[in-house]
Amino acid sequence: MMATRKEVDATSGTETTGHEWDGIKELNTPLPRWWLWVFYATVVWSIGYWVLYPAWPTLTGYTQGVLNQSQRDDVAKAVLAMKSQREEQGRLLATATLAQIEADPNLFQFAREAGKSAFGDNCATCHGSGGQGFKGYPNLNDDVWLWGGKLEDIKRTITVGVRSTQTDTRLSLMPAFGRDKLLEPAQINDMVEYVVSLSGGKADAQAVARVTTLYAEQCASCHGVGGKGLREFGAPNLTDKEWLYGGTREEINAQIVVGRAGVMPTWGSRLDPITIDALAVYVHSLGGGE
Ligand code: HEC
Ligand code: HEC
Repeated sequence: MMATRKEVDATSGTETTGHEWDGIKELNTPLPRWWLWVFYATVVWSIGYWVLYPAWPTLTGYTQGVLNQSQRDDVAKAVLAMKSQREEQGRLLATATLAQIEADPNLFQFAREAGKSAFGDNCATCHGSGGQGFKGYPNLNDDVWLWGGKLEDIKRTITVGVRSTQTDTRLSLMPAFGRDKLLEPAQINDMVEYVVSLSGGKADAQAVARVTTLYAEQCASCHGVGGKGLREFGAPNLTDKEWLYGGTREEINAQIVVGRAGVMPTWGSRLDPITIDALAVYVHSLGGGE
């Protein structure tokens, strides 16, 4: 029920609103001063905002505000600024040598980013998104290199490819010793033991002794006398624990029988020189660069 005159609550000393429900009366507590001032301030601020900035929709558009401010224009300007900076860095990238790129932190960062994205588009299908590689496709972030891990080596591999169609591609072919009957199956079995022993595994000593000369005649020209591999032939180091085609006896046997020859496409004819530089810098920075 509505009361007709102002009433003061006896306990709190505050005026009531006159509203009462089941004997409970509502106090008319005034809003705190500070709150009211903040409220008034926001009202004043919003009026200022309407005047200065775009605010109200109209039938044909919106109120522009006297500052003529537009976030759309701001974004367009920022994009333009970024583009010109990119072009600038792209130009620098085109003229700098690989070593200069790596020495300049800004350029290096730019090249690495560009290389990373080009890697995702062109290389990750074979080498994995982080360059970790798969069987037959080398890991690019370790320090094991078939053709060399210096910036220039990497750039050359990317440019000409491996066993690709380009005339000056990186090329060397391990003979298919088994398929082409260059070695007897028994010799191949012994040779597997020889490779296992090279890599530090437990091997049949007699088998190793039987093919020691054969290894020197047939394999050392590419893999080196000690089995450490020769980069001019892209021949892997056989003494480490890193395998391109796997290190079990079956896998080693299979390689000696068929002499697999991995193919890496030529990129020199598909990607522009700047992208290739960026890719070389990116691959070099993956962790195994020399
Ligand atoms: C179709 C699969 C394929 C694609 C795509 C590919 N590669 Fe390769 N890449 C290979 C194979 C296979 C090898 C190993 C060749 C060999 O056996 O010597 C290789 C080798 C390499 C090597 C030499 C590694 C070493 O140990 O010396 C580099 C560097 C390399 N690739 C970089 C790239 C880059 C960068 C791209 C993208 C522009 C790319 N690859 C795209 C298959 C591919
Ligand atoms: C003409 C050079 C050449 C000769 C000779 C040669 N190899 Fe190879 N070998 C290679 C190359 C190149 C590869 C890498 C193939 C590839 O990248 O696809 C390879 C790969 C291998 C691998 C695989 C290594 C891995 O990491 O998976 C083994 C094992 C091997 N060779 C053993 C031998 C043995 C044993 C002989 C002698 C009977 C021999 N090779 C003779 C060039 C040669």
